[in-house]
Amino acid sequence: MLPTADYAREFIGKTALVTGGASGIGLATARRLAAGGAAVAVADYNEEGARTVAAELKAGGARALAVHLDVTDPESVRAAVEASVEDLGGLHLAVNNAGIGIRGQLTGDHSLDDWSRVIATNLDGVFYSLRYELPAILASGGGAVVNISSVMGTNGTPGQSAYVAAKHGVLGLTKAAALEYAAKGVRINAVAPGFIDTPILAAASAVYRERITAEHAVGRLGAAEEVAELTAFLLSDRASFVHGSCHLVDGGYSAH
Ligand code: NAI
Repeated sequence: MLPTADYAREFIGKTALVTGGASGIGLATARRLAAGGAAVAVADYNEEGARTVAAELKAGGARALAVHLDVTDPESVRAAVEASVEDLGGLHLAVNNAGIGIRGQLTGDHSLDDWSRVIATNLDGVFYSLRYELPAILASGGGAVVNISSVMGTNGTPGQSAYVAAKHGVLGLTKAAALEYAAKGVRINAVAPGFIDTPILAAASAVYRERITAEHAVGRLGAAEEVAELTAFLLSDRASFVHGSCHLVDGGYSAH
């Protein structure tokens, strides 16, 4: 099912930071970048999870580091980027992936706490990450960033106004930052996955899973590895003319 071509080792000499690297899409991306030869900082507020992933990558022969990170706290992001640069010797690639889901609720009844939590994690967190990654990437001679948005970053979904607003915001942030940094040697793009079978969907009911599965033309949910593959392409030199754009990986969800 997945591409098996060995573009491999195309990330040798590169260091990468993956936020939310302890689980799901971040975990698959950390594995994919390490398999390509990158030294990877696995950054997550789930410290034990990050340590487990970093240990797995090291056991596979990669250089890896577990870093504590809470993307809602700018000081924590600054410290995580600094620790990654110091330990791994620079920063070339970043995947701003940490995010949370939210229970469905109408905008007119929306929990104010839920709104703040989702915006703080899924939008502010991407800004804080860029804020501290970009100077580090410039200081390392340039590189590439992928921000993880969603099909909810391009389309509305009833009951998901906070998540939809945050993920649309990620696309705007991606475009603005890409324009600022393209000529400085940093490519910044976004990936918009359809529904991917990760722990973020753990609380979803069987009925909901069945409904969202049917919304994908391919008739199944995506795998985290399928998102990681597109992300790796966008981070690689193979995507040298790709700047400031949003890339769907959604099993045909958006083709309706
Ligand atoms: P997941 O729940 O498996 O992984 C999310 C990771 O982010 C976890 O390791 C968690 O500990 C970490 N995290 C959450 N809040 C954090 C914070 N404040 N600071 C640091 N780390 C934090 O979820 P999944 O599915 O891998 O999601 C990854 C990204 O992909 C998210 O941004 C999500 O919105 C996005 N996405 C997911 C889709 C799906 O259907 N699974 C679809 C479209 C986008």
